[in-house]
Amino acid sequence: MTAASNIEEAGFQPASRIAAIGVSKILQIGARAAAMKKEGLPVIILGAGEPDFDTPDNVKEAAKAAIDRGETKYTALDGTPALKQAIVEKFRRENNVDYAVDEVTVATGAKQILFNAFMASVNPGDEVIIPTPYWTSYSDIVEICGGVPVLIPCDAEAGFRLKAEQLEKAITPKTRWVLLNSPSNPSGAAYSEADYRPLLDVLLKHPHVWLMVDDMYEHIVYDGFTFVTPVAIEPRLKNRTLTINGVSKAYAMTGWRIGYAGGPKALIKAMAVIQSQATSCPSSVSQAASVEALNGPQAFLKDRQASFKHRRDLVVSALNAMPGLACRTPEGAFYTFSGCAGMIGKTTPKGKRIDADSDFTDYLLEDAHVAVVPGSAFGLSPYFRISYATSEAELKEALKRIADACARLS
Ligand SMILES: Cc1ncc(COP(=O)(O)O)c(C=O)c1O
Repeated sequence: MTAASNIEEAGFQPASRIAAIGVSKILQIGARAAAMKKEGLPVIILGAGEPDFDTPDNVKEAAKAAIDRGETKYTALDGTPALKQAIVEKFRRENNVDYAVDEVTVATGAKQILFNAFMASVNPGDEVIIPTPYWTSYSDIVEICGGVPVLIPCDAEAGFRLKAEQLEKAITPKTRWVLLNSPSNPSGAAYSEADYRPLLDVLLKHPHVWLMVDDMYEHIVYDGFTFVTPVAIEPRLKNRTLTINGVSKAYAMTGWRIGYAGGPKALIKAMAVIQSQATSCPSSVSQAASVEALNGPQAFLKDRQASFKHRRDLVVSALNAMPGLACRTPEGAFYTFSGCAGMIGKTTPKGKRIDADSDFTDYLLEDAHVAVVPGSAFGLSPYFRISYATSEAELKEALKRIADACARLS
């Protein structure tokens, strides 16, 4: 069901710009799982896109101190001087990239950074190249902004990564942006310097194409993977790259709603125009908290990484032990994106045929009471995403139920 038809039922005619945007499958599954839980069913939800850790205490204290200092008013439009300075230093210290203060911007989450950037740069019909599987919001935001998402399938054999030949082929005179996300939600796949290099070489040949990179999961990488951001590899692309990041995932601050980006001054200024008429500024208290997140102790990130890695290994090995499933080991983030081709064509104990990954995930929810998200929600089938940002005990129970449910298929 589309958002439009939902709203029309209530007697309201939605604007055409949202007519093509469907209600997110993730939200639908979340709502169904929550309703089942309310009925008393023991549902385990492996759908959450947020760490199960708490915001660090030093960050909470910084927020309280900001309130006590009276920092409760509007701030500078696209970030306080203190937070912009902390971001400049973060890019220099962790990414080896030099952005000036007027080349960084702060918004109400990385999601709003994306929204500001596309609103500020995309004209009707402009194309945005997005490899799949992709974080669902990418294509929806592009469409709301009047752009055309150009989706390029990148399956497990390709390591869920875009290849230079695919990029070259997808570029047209209408291409405005290429949007890359490493480590990726939902696949967990990440681009090393060697993976990025050929893509950046293609972009060097096409000066009208800009690069947007979403580094949100930078701090959640495993097995010694070296995170790198494209501008550090190829400074010649700095004048047409937007480097997006945020505090949500690394610092377990999803509810504080702070995202940021570095990019060319003209784009940053244009994004501020959008923000000025949307929110006026990000939350003052959350900005103070984010200064502490970026400037404060970082050692705990390694412990959290180790905890996520332990859970990743648990999930990957359990899934790969189930006949019909095939799970690539992700380099980062806290998701697995497992192939389920072996389940297609099978029949559930109630006699329902599994024709698509969404039938499989519906079956897992109904029969095993485990909520996961089908690959179709991320533009690539047949796969399903598990978020392993939950307790080990819950993960083990969920994996056992999934294995039993798979064994009941014939
Ligand atoms: C890849 C990716 N980018 C951006 C975001 C948005 O983060 P924020 O909480 O900063 O809006 C998410 C959240 O799920 C994400 O998975």
